Amino acid sequence: MASKLLFVCLGNICRSPSAENIMNHLIKEAGKENEIICDSAGTSSYHIGSPPDRRMTAAAAKRGIQLTGRARQFEVADFENFDLILAMDKDNFRDILYQDKQGKYQDKVRLMCDFAREHSDSEVPDPYYGGSDGFNYVIDLLLDACSGLLESLENN
Ligand code: 4NP
Repeated sequence: MASKLLFVCLGNICRSPSAENIMNHLIKEAGKENEIICDSAGTSSYHIGSPPDRRMTAAAAKRGIQLTGRARQFEVADFENFDLILAMDKDNFRDILYQDKQGKYQDKVRLMCDFAREHSDSEVPDPYYGGSDGFNYVIDLLLDACSGLLESLENN
């Protein structure tokens, strides 16, 4: 069972690179590097080519997660190239589905929070204009959702 996962937010510098790197961390711990492949993208073009936000990088480092990668924009080819597309919030979800003009790929697109087990949030909140608490919260919520996602992949 090889799975290709794409995590998507607005800018691809805060939430989705965190989700990608947290998921890779959990995948490595589980010894499943050859089975599950992760990438991330943003629905906007705002930060194409940028590394992860340094406030997000600091919050991830506190939990032992190193953030890597450069921002890229979501593209229609991603619908074919990935098995599962995980939107961080409902705007991202809507913006992704808007690009699926024929409705062929709707089953591949899910909200990240659907996989959280310890948090009842329906969205991963956008931390960009807030303080450090928001960045820390994103990491904790994503640790929960990524572990639920890994378990759900293992059970399928
Ligand atoms: P992200 O956070 O979508 O989690 O990467 C944001 C990054 C940049 C902006 C908004 C949210 N921005 O408005 O530039």
